[in-house]
Amino acid sequence: MTIEWYPGHMGKAKQQISELIRDVNVVIEVLDARLPSSSSNRLLQELRRSKPCIKVLNKSDLADPSVTKAWVRTLEKQSGVRALPLSAKHYRETSQITKLCKLLAPNRGKPGNSLRIMVVGIPNVGKSTLINTLAGKSMAKVGDRPAITTCPQRIDLGNNIILSDTPGLLWPDMKDQTAAYRLASSGAIGEGAFDYTDVGLFAALFMMQRYRELLMTRYRFTEVPDNPTGLLEHIGRRLGCLVSGGQVDLNRAAEAFLRELRAGKIGRISFEEPTEFPDAADTIASPSSALTSTNPQ
Ligand code: G4P
Repeated sequence: MTIEWYPGHMGKAKQQISELIRDVNVVIEVLDARLPSSSSNRLLQELRRSKPCIKVLNKSDLADPSVTKAWVRTLEKQSGVRALPLSAKHYRETSQITKLCKLLAPNRGKPGNSLRIMVVGIPNVGKSTLINTLAGKSMAKVGDRPAITTCPQRIDLGNNIILSDTPGLLWPDMKDQTAAYRLASSGAIGEGAFDYTDVGLFAALFMMQRYRELLMTRYRFTEVPDNPTGLLEHIGRRLGCLVSGGQVDLNRAAEAFLRELRAGKIGRISFEEPTEFPDAADTIASPSSALTSTNPQ
């Protein structure tokens, strides 16, 4: 099944970001650390031109730490880019952003010459959470539905750093269906846009291939079932997703499995590694064809 999803306000987004970026000294691109390529948008490269950029690998509390380290090394090969893994919920981690901004724009952040920064990214990567944490109070709306942040605001972070709280809303590349399935698995895509069973099977196959041990520990398997449907059925039985007659409700099982996966209950996982993207050091690229094997298309 093809996942199609067009978050609201996307039509105006390119023009809006292009106008806002003109006034900015450092761009903060928020990516999901579990899927830094699929949660990016190539357009930003074009829009920011040579402006320095901090690529925040957010939700790193949920991502595989060794894979995140590899992403940091790869992304920092891009010109004018620094990469920072963090959890936007924790102020101590986000405070490094202002220090990095000063390093990237050393002539700014002085009285009469403030350093202007803005946060951009696709829906649900944690832009509002990051803005709220940096501001030390609730400025931007945080919600469980994508594309919720729409109202422009400005925030004085102190130390002559001004944060534009119009998180630049980018959109994911839905033509790349492997990316779409990864995004849906991670929780970045609006609920109505995909089928739980379909995405649950994709995520189950991925976990069987990459994180078998985590499945064994979480669900106390002596042996992991040999196909994704069997895996979801096992998990559904364990989590009580049954219909009358004791049969597993596969859709509810998929939903429950995805909920556990997204919350990090199965363990810290990354959906993609930089080695899968041969030109990731130049820009964020399309996955190599070998990767599409976990796509149920
Ligand atoms: P957005 O502005 O980019 O659309 O994203 P937003 O900040 O609304 O965050 C989307 C979801 O991601 C929220 O969860 C938020 O709490 C969660 N989140 C943001 N940063 C992190 C992080 O570093 N680690 C983890 N684990 N989660 C993060 P929610 O369930 O939609 O809302 P809530 O119930 O947490 O308020």
